[in-house]
Amino acid sequence: VTFTPFTERMPVPPVLRPSRTTGGVDTYTLPIRAAEVDIIPGLRTPALTYGGQFVGPTIRARAGRPVKVAFVNELDQLTNVHLHGGHVSAANDGHPMDLIAPGATRVYDYPNTQRGATLWYHDHTHGLEADHVYRGLHGFYLIHDKAEKRLNLPSGKYDVPIMLRNAQFDEKGALVFGHPDNRTTVLANGKAQPYFPVAARKYRFRLLNASLKHVFRLNMGGVPMTKIASDGGLLPAPVSREELVISSGERVEIVVDFSGRLDDSPLYLYEGENPILRFDVSAAHGRDRSSVPAELVPLPALGAATVERQVSMSFDMSARPPVGLVNGRPFDPDRVDLQVKQGATEIWEIVNADVTPIPFDHPFHMHLVQFQVLSRDGGPPLPEDAGLKDTVYLPPRGTVRIQMTFRTPYTGRYMYHCHYLEHSALGMMAQMEIVP
Ligand code: C2O
Ligand code: CU
Repeated sequence: VTFTPFTERMPVPPVLRPSRTTGGVDTYTLPIRAAEVDIIPGLRTPALTYGGQFVGPTIRARAGRPVKVAFVNELDQLTNVHLHGGHVSAANDGHPMDLIAPGATRVYDYPNTQRGATLWYHDHTHGLEADHVYRGLHGFYLIHDKAEKRLNLPSGKYDVPIMLRNAQFDEKGALVFGHPDNRTTVLANGKAQPYFPVAARKYRFRLLNASLKHVFRLNMGGVPMTKIASDGGLLPAPVSREELVISSGERVEIVVDFSGRLDDSPLYLYEGENPILRFDVSAAHGRDRSSVPAELVPLPALGAATVERQVSMSFDMSARPPVGLVNGRPFDPDRVDLQVKQGATEIWEIVNADVTPIPFDHPFHMHLVQFQVLSRDGGPPLPEDAGLKDTVYLPPRGTVRIQMTFRTPYTGRYMYHCHYLEHSALGMMAQMEIVP
C-alpha cells in the first residue's frame, strides 16, 4: 500500500475513565468489538478493538490501588485478556484456555501490587492470540508509584506511551495476516509514519513493541536517548543510548530532551535508516521543571537461588504446520510442565535451541514475575537486558541465564512462552504451577 508519509498526527491513546471508584477500587468497562479504524491515510481498516480503537485506551493505575476491568465480549468469537507483566492471580491472568464467550462479560482483578511500570493488555486465546493481537487487541496499562513520583520525571502530557508494531495491508487498507516481515509497514500508536508535535523540553516516551514477530533497532539519527526503564519499571540509573533494540513484547522507556532542538531540521525516530515517526518541535510554554536524576530506583537484591532449570525453545519442522516446542514438547493445556514453590528463588537458563534451516529468534516471556538477566551467551548481559524484565530477546543459538523470586500470594498455573505469538500459537508455550 502506498501513501504520503508524515501527513497525519500520531494519536496518544486516550486514558480510560473509571465507570466507578468505590472502596478504594477503580472499576472500568471496556467492550471488545469489531470496528473500522484509520491507520493508512485515506483508507479504512477493519480491526478487532478494545473500545473501538486500534490501540486500546490506556489504563493508568496506581501501585497499591486495585483495578477491576469488565471486558464485554461483543465479538462473535472467543477471546480473553492477559495483562502482560502483571502480578495477578491465576484466575485473572488470561490463561489461554480460560476464555470469554461471545456476549459474555468477564471482570478481571488487577491488584497493582508491584512497582510502577509500563504493562500492556492483549488477547491470549490459545491458537488465536497471534491473529487477535495482529488485528488490534492490544493496549497500554501503566502503573504509577510513589518512588517514581519523587523523581520528578516528565509527566502528564509529557509522558507518552508509543506502541510500535508492524503490519501488512492490501491496497484497500485491510490487514493481511501471516506474511513475511520485509513488506510490512511500521505503525506508531496505530498510524503509519505519523508526525508528533512536541515542545522544546523533555519528554518521557514509553516504547512497546507489540509486533507479532519483529525486532526494532531504533535510533534518532545520533540524538541521544536517555533510557530510564525496561519491562518491569525504572532502572537504578539512567543510561544514554544511541540505539535501542526492542523485541516483541518488550518495553523500553526513554527521556528525550527537545530543548535546543527548535531550529533543527525535523527530528525522526528511525528504524535503522527508515524514518517511522517525525517529531515537530515548537517553543515550550513555561519552564521545564522535570528532571532525570542520576539515581532512579534500585533493583531488588538477587538473593541465593535454590533451584536451577533449563528451558529450550525450538521447532519441529517435520510437522505441517511446524510445531513449536518448549523443552522438546508442544503446549498441552492438561500438562503442568514444572512446579515452582511460592517464594522460591530460581535461575533458569533459556536456550534458543532452534535448528531450523533458517533459525528463528525467540523472545522468551514469563508470566507473573519479573526477572533479572544474569548473563548472556556465557558473558555479561547486553545493555538491553538491564533492569527488571519479563521478556528477553533470544537470537538464533542464544542463551540467557535469568533469576527471579516467586514472591507471590498466588498459586496456580502461569504461562511461559515465546512472545512471537505465531510461535506460541503453534505450541511454543508451557505452563508452570505455583505451589505452596
Ligand atoms: Cu504478552 Cu503470555 O504474553
Ligand atoms: Cu519463537
